[in-house]
Amino acid sequence: MLGNDDWWRDAVVYQVYPRSFADANGDGMGDLEGVRDRLDYLAGLGVDAIWLSPFYTSPMADGGYDVADYRDVDPMFGTIADFDALIADAHAKGIRVIVDLVPNHSSDQHPWFKAGLRDRYIFRDEPNDWESIFGGPAWTQSADGQWYLHLFAPEQPDLNWDNPEVRAEFRDILRFWLDRGVDGFRVDVAHGMIKAAGLPDVGPKDGPQAEMLGDEQVPYFDQDGVHDIYREWRPILDSYPGGRMAVAEAWVSSPERLARYVGPDELHQAFSFDFMMADFHAKSFRTVIEKALKESELVGAPTTWVLSNHDKPRHVTRHGGLARARAATLLMLALPGSAYLYNGEELGLPEVLDLPDELRQDPAFLRRGESRDGCRVPIPWTAAPGCGWRDPWLPIPEGWAALSAEAQEDDPDSTLNLYRAALRLRKEHPALGGGTVTWLDSPKDVLVIERDPGLVVVLNTGEEPVRLDLAGEVLLSSGPLATDGSVPPDTAVWFQR
Ligand code: NOJ
Repeated sequence: MLGNDDWWRDAVVYQVYPRSFADANGDGMGDLEGVRDRLDYLAGLGVDAIWLSPFYTSPMADGGYDVADYRDVDPMFGTIADFDALIADAHAKGIRVIVDLVPNHSSDQHPWFKAGLRDRYIFRDEPNDWESIFGGPAWTQSADGQWYLHLFAPEQPDLNWDNPEVRAEFRDILRFWLDRGVDGFRVDVAHGMIKAAGLPDVGPKDGPQAEMLGDEQVPYFDQDGVHDIYREWRPILDSYPGGRMAVAEAWVSSPERLARYVGPDELHQAFSFDFMMADFHAKSFRTVIEKALKESELVGAPTTWVLSNHDKPRHVTRHGGLARARAATLLMLALPGSAYLYNGEELGLPEVLDLPDELRQDPAFLRRGESRDGCRVPIPWTAAPGCGWRDPWLPIPEGWAALSAEAQEDDPDSTLNLYRAALRLRKEHPALGGGTVTWLDSPKDVLVIERDPGLVVVLNTGEEPVRLDLAGEVLLSSGPLATDGSVPPDTAVWFQR
């Protein structure tokens, strides 16, 4: 068992997208009371913590990632008293709570922007060639002719982190939520905030700038100065008891660059998006896992695995079916480090691909035709028509009654029960989330990893069943094994030798 302060090192954290999770007041929009009502479900699932995507006061131009008041709850989600009640109940059930922090930009409805406090944002007489991640130019002209920078939607003006008042404000926001008892922060666009001096042009490129990050640095992301911010924040986190932590959402060009965000004087974790984006193939998984482990070990941080979140198509769809998604999940949950789950993946939900355009709300859809709404469809709770929702903000596919938590509850082979079993075993075998990884000889398209001595993980991404000489007990399997014990394609197994 890890000490209290180190709880995050092997934690399984469940991301709640508040609009879509559970609706207590029946207005079609999830809320904090809805989360509170489901704490027993989450405790039964076996997660160590929840991460709440933004629930702050927001005009919702980007699903709440456009914050107008960093210290209050949007009425759509409830009140600050609801938040206090949620955190108290979560803690009483042994579940920690991480909140989202959005420091790169505020809403254009934030009092600073409304009051015209231009030195807290990035205003220029002339725009440069930077593009918004959501498509189109990253600059919008204000009424008096000046332009302001927004790396995301025009309703999300970038804050000026060269201004000490901005820095002081965010230190205070950290303390505000730490004082309310939060266990940590997920830092949005953690590679943003600092822009290269003089705001130089990116220059001519083939294709959108938003897609360039894998190959080279752009002058608005992953700048060295951002690390000073984390070195300012870390002592604040460390000054509170109980192991308060922060996890970086940093899209950077390599695991080496990512590792610079974590360590004893910066943030605690950084999502390994390389793992999330890997193909369902033994070789791709092995390559990203080896690199991620190597880099995090060098800086003494745990690796942070994730397969789905509110920004990418759900991994059932990305990896090509439920069997593969279940197998990838068992691989992830047997890797050393922390793992983040996205609400609904424990039900095996696929991406919803056929939402009518007029219902889509993602600003990226409006600006560049790409939509993240398909992974944000509300969670089906009951097997009754409507799946426990009245007039949800995005329609729930009819077939999802069969995927609902209620429908899966008593089915021993359901995805929900697979996740429950996996998380229970992770608790019984702490080495599953810790320890080292030894790659054993394996046939082509198959991964065989030794964990805790005697605990072996097999993943078959090939087209033929594989029979391995692994006499021992099957602890858990993502799908049925053949009668002769061989592991079928698209299946992962945890063996105890
Ligand atoms: C990353 C968040 O995960 C995404 O949903 C949001 O649109 C951008 N940051 C901008 O805040």
